[in-house]
Amino acid sequence: MISINDISFEYPITDEKTRTVLKNISLEIKAGESITVMGPNGSGKTTFARCLNGLLVPSKGKVVVDGLPTDEPTNLTEIRRRVGMVFQNPDNQIVSATVEREIAFGLENLGKPYDEMHRIVDEELEKFNLQQYRKKAPHYLSGGEKQKLAMAAVLAMRPSYLILDEPTSLLDPQSRKDILQLVRQFHSAENDHSHITTIFITQFAEEALSADRLIIFYDGRIFMDGAPEKVFSNIKPLLEIGLEPPVKILMQNLVKRT
Ligand SMILES: Nc1ncnc2c1ncn2[C@@H]1O[C@H](COP(=O)(O)OP(=O)(O)OP(=O)(O)O)[C@@H](O)[C@H]1O
Ligand SMILES: [Mg+2]
Repeated sequence: MISINDISFEYPITDEKTRTVLKNISLEIKAGESITVMGPNGSGKTTFARCLNGLLVPSKGKVVVDGLPTDEPTNLTEIRRRVGMVFQNPDNQIVSATVEREIAFGLENLGKPYDEMHRIVDEELEKFNLQQYRKKAPHYLSGGEKQKLAMAAVLAMRPSYLILDEPTSLLDPQSRKDILQLVRQFHSAENDHSHITTIFITQFAEEALSADRLIIFYDGRIFMDGAPEKVFSNIKPLLEIGLEPPVKILMQNLVKRT
């Protein structure tokens, strides 16, 4: 479980001025949940995500990952292993000269024995259908393939939580579908990633429907939190903050009214 206890976050603007972008947020993320996070630009989603694995430490309040507080520097290595992060732009994440080395990179850092490392790299290549590129340099891959590689490298570490910060926003519709399907598969499949907890940040309402829970951010606060269909049924307040519910929900609502 990740518990978020009344956290606020301030970015320094000048020596004496700060800007508060997260305001008194409390949440519990239970093991095995699949959560989507949405919210207008600048509402604090990325800042929140970075607080979950200790990349940022809240100015006030506490984040505790499986009993480990993120404000304790000695916990950070273990927290980062448990909480994997995939970002919007895979180019900012990929560091190795070949596809297979990228997947092995984190495992080497963990000191995994060679045989086990080899097995995991093979498994991840297969899962993401990247086998034919294993010896290739990552910059030869398409955007969607690079995003798959970034995910494979994170999942190779066998995290308990997977945070994806708009992983589909730079992709075409087909690659977007592929990535979403893979994320849902990790969450539900009986494999090594079985029931991994996923926190998926997206601007595409359709992508939220398949999650257990949808959290809407607005102006650094939690605006709504609940089952996706229920949250989306609040059409008017969502439209007022600039979020459009999925077409399916809008249609259902139209039918109900007529
Ligand atoms: N390093 C920083 N220094 C100062 N302000 C920052 C910094 N990073 C982000 N901010 C501000 O904090 C606010 C929240 O940013 P954040 O990136 O968390 O929002 P977001 O919901 O992820 O937005 P987007 O949908 O555009 O990705 C924004 O107003 C942003 O300008
Ligand atoms: Mg963001």
